Amino acid sequence: MAKDFDRMEDSNRSANPSIHEVSVPQRRTVLQLSLGAAASALFTPWLAGCATGAGAPAGARIGFEGIPIGRTDALTVPKGYVADVIAAWGEPIGVPGHMPAWKPDASNSAVDQAVQMGMHHDGIHYYPLDGSRRGLLALNHEYADDGLLHPDGMKDWTAEKTRKSQAAHGVAVIEIEQKDGRWQMVRPSRYARRFTAATPFAVGGPAAGHPLMRTAADPTGRVVLGTLNNCASGKTPWGTYLSGEENWAYYFEGGDNLTADQRRWGLRKTAFYPWWRTDERWDARKHPNEFHRFGWVVEIDPMDPTSTPVKRTALGRAAHEGAWVAVTKDGRAVVYSGEDARFEYIYKFVSRDRIRPGGAKANAELLDHGTLHVARFDADGRGHWLPLVHGQGPLTPANGFADEGEVLIKARQASDLLGATKMDRPEWLAIDPDSGEVYCTLTNNSARGAPGQPGVDAANPRAGNAFGHIIRWKEDGDFDGIGFAWNHLVLAGDPANARPEARGNIQGDLYACPDGIAFDPAGTLWIQTDAHATQMHKGELVNIGSNQMLACDVRTGQTRRFLTGPINCEVTGVTWTPDMRTMFVNIQHPGETPSDRSDPTQPRRFSNWPDYRPDGRPRSATVVIRRSDGGAIGT
Ligand code: FEO
Ligand code: CA
Ligand code: CA
Repeated sequence: MAKDFDRMEDSNRSANPSIHEVSVPQRRTVLQLSLGAAASALFTPWLAGCATGAGAPAGARIGFEGIPIGRTDALTVPKGYVADVIAAWGEPIGVPGHMPAWKPDASNSAVDQAVQMGMHHDGIHYYPLDGSRRGLLALNHEYADDGLLHPDGMKDWTAEKTRKSQAAHGVAVIEIEQKDGRWQMVRPSRYARRFTAATPFAVGGPAAGHPLMRTAADPTGRVVLGTLNNCASGKTPWGTYLSGEENWAYYFEGGDNLTADQRRWGLRKTAFYPWWRTDERWDARKHPNEFHRFGWVVEIDPMDPTSTPVKRTALGRAAHEGAWVAVTKDGRAVVYSGEDARFEYIYKFVSRDRIRPGGAKANAELLDHGTLHVARFDADGRGHWLPLVHGQGPLTPANGFADEGEVLIKARQASDLLGATKMDRPEWLAIDPDSGEVYCTLTNNSARGAPGQPGVDAANPRAGNAFGHIIRWKEDGDFDGIGFAWNHLVLAGDPANARPEARGNIQGDLYACPDGIAFDPAGTLWIQTDAHATQMHKGELVNIGSNQMLACDVRTGQTRRFLTGPINCEVTGVTWTPDMRTMFVNIQHPGETPSDRSDPTQPRRFSNWPDYRPDGRPRSATVVIRRSDGGAIGT
């Protein structure tokens, strides 16, 4: 997520204080436990049961030579690895008969952009067509930088600019293959497809057709145009792609008379994007229910180019970072998701039905039926999943919830009433294939402990949390367990930081603000960062360089730096071919600064990656990483 969204989140704070605040002495106790070792006495019972318990040699899984921090406008990988750029913003995706070439002066039309790679690549997954030689990539295009997107930036805004900006958002499906040792896009391809902020999506689950989902253009409340601010993504066992709608609230113009509900969801007087000036459905004063139709996890079947994408309302409405699937022993889907906003929540959906053989079509309604829960982390290292079920506890008409659809549309308010734990911006989740532990990055929260804001708690133990942390838990019994035991993998930041409250406990190469995480098939955890120079300076970790990706052996906590990105980029999104010989990583917003975005006619002063053209514009892109000797990545 970009810096400007971070800045906006500064004022997107919950009004009600956390009920899980703990005193400073309690916090110190928890910190000591976290810092002590993963196998602290408190957590020994479940760690002892892991397939990969303590005692493994440090860094045993990590087989590459770490690299120094990055300071140049380049992407760097370890010795023995090669990295190639494919699928940068603006490249035609390969729709048969419509493959407009990228124009470096950004003069492609909105119609062109709708069949080209979007901007700001994020979550990504590989879907094999021919094993590890040919497949599809589905990936998110989180947002648009309109200063770069149009030849004259945001000057003299037009309907064409709105359409092009919408077309630069969403999701892409592209076909790729390995030829003569290099990966390239297959063009044309019958699979090539873009989903944008104007593509029709069906609505599934309890909020489908709900009165709060109906608009003048869609009186059924069952067909929404577009998906927005798609951040991270998950791949389901039945072969589909789950994408989270994250900072959608910033697309709506709210005006002066915001309701309490709108304020709770971060609607602003002024939209960040000027779409509403030419497309009035983004004006919440005129179309208040349009605002309810975003914030969902969307499901896409990349293998069927004729399939209709669906917004899955049973998973709850949120500023969804993404969605990640585990499977219970009896075959039900458990979908974890977090809400990346300060003091928001972590969720878990448990499907009613079992996953059926037969792929996407056989499971077309699986995510429409089940129970959503929100997490409460207690100070004793235990936690509980609280069900968001209409009629249970406070989730009643008397408290403003007419039915289950309204509970899901107002999941934040429901979670407030249930007493869920307000987290430090939950980003990605990942499930350890060996142990079944669930990991979640909490990227940072500078407002933690500020006057009028929730204070520290056991799970979020640092005031003014500049560098973020990674929490993990093990469910009681199976993934559908309602209780769990938790601890911290790491508090990010330099262990030698001069400020005790900013001091981290990283073992190995330093990083700040963990965001993307994913386990590779061999069980190594890969950590991607989204830190800002100013944030690092305030936190006194001034020497960390550009954003990066590291490998972590979660048995030992050891991290090693694998990749550093170009200047002012974010490293986000990673996937592998099944043989692990190819890794795909997304580089987002190289060169971006908040001032550049607010003054879009400014040239990008910091990065010209990856083209390095004198007249060029920096471009987000997918990077293909391989080992020169053809071996498995990271081993
Ligand atoms: Fe789009 Fe929370 O990062
Ligand atoms: Ca982020
Ligand atoms: Ca992110």
